[in-house]
Amino acid sequence: MTYKILDRTYRFFYDNFLSELPEGLAISLGRGLLRLPIECLPVFEADDPELRTSLSGCELPNPVILAACYHQPWIIRKASKMGFGAVTLKVTKNPRKGPRPNMVRRGEGFVNCVGFENAGMEKTREFLKDYRGVPIILNITGDSIDEYCEVIEGLQDYADMVELNISCPNIEKGLYFSENPRHAKELFKESVNLSKKPLIVKLSRGENREIISNALDSGIRIVNYANTLPVKEKGLPTGFGGLSGPELYEDTILNVKRIRKEFGGYLQIIATGGIDSGEKGYRAKESGASAISYITGFITRGPFLAREINEYLLSRK
Ligand SMILES: Cc1cc2nc3c(=O)[nH]c(=O)nc-3n(C[C@H](O)[C@H](O)[C@H](O)COP(=O)(O)O)c2cc1C
Repeated sequence: MTYKILDRTYRFFYDNFLSELPEGLAISLGRGLLRLPIECLPVFEADDPELRTSLSGCELPNPVILAACYHQPWIIRKASKMGFGAVTLKVTKNPRKGPRPNMVRRGEGFVNCVGFENAGMEKTREFLKDYRGVPIILNITGDSIDEYCEVIEGLQDYADMVELNISCPNIEKGLYFSENPRHAKELFKESVNLSKKPLIVKLSRGENREIISNALDSGIRIVNYANTLPVKEKGLPTGFGGLSGPELYEDTILNVKRIRKEFGGYLQIIATGGIDSGEKGYRAKESGASAISYITGFITRGPFLAREINEYLLSRK
């Protein structure tokens, strides 16, 4: 019950205050709120055997995942105590910086050009060595197959799953492997040869038939549908970015159903894009997803959304 009051308070605060402020200020304030020790509140637990989920052998306490976006250790540590079944951490071989501003609102979602801003693999290893919490998924991106492989080799001992991001629409060449399925297949094969952990391919929006076939042929059993949608955006220094949020939801459902129908039960699907309520999470699972993930909902609906989705899933069992 208490979590519902806190949940409504956050939503009121977001809808009436944060969402009215300039994006930069709203993000700083939102992060300020997140710094409060809210993870200590006894409201996040969703520990029910019926929620347990296995992704290619990796056991999650529930099927709700924090999608790729964050690289900051303190946010990942916090999120890992907020009712998620797993959290995703993004990383590249070397540290990277991105442009500013990197996010503007569009409708109830955002267009971002964050790119792969992160501290790089060496710093990330230091954090991962001390990490204790729900399973952690490494979301890896690289400019070449070698770069992906170096990060897998360097960090896999400290993570539970590895997600190959081949679908970033907001930087130049971010979609290279998605648009070149033959090269993607080489990446998949090399990654499977190296990886001791289950692999996930993070897909771009759209049809992806050849990419998924190549992933399956290489031995990968999990895909994540999907990344943000490429759009033009004058408010960003790049002039373009990736759209996230509720506008993506119907596309997510349509494609999860299509992938499930075309590839059968052999493949596990993580549904991502526009999930911001228990009902939407449930529908994604009913459409064929083994797990669901979100980012925009974490910002717009707040830290109690994972709990809400898990409760809803349980209520429909
Ligand atoms: C600010 C921001 C940064 C993101 N960074 C990454 C990333 O590094 N790697 C990745 O695979 N996806 C990234 N994404 C995409 C999300 O993981 C997710 O696929 C997408 O936002 C759709 O889900 P949503 O509607 O719940 O936000 C990012 C999204 C946002 C909004």
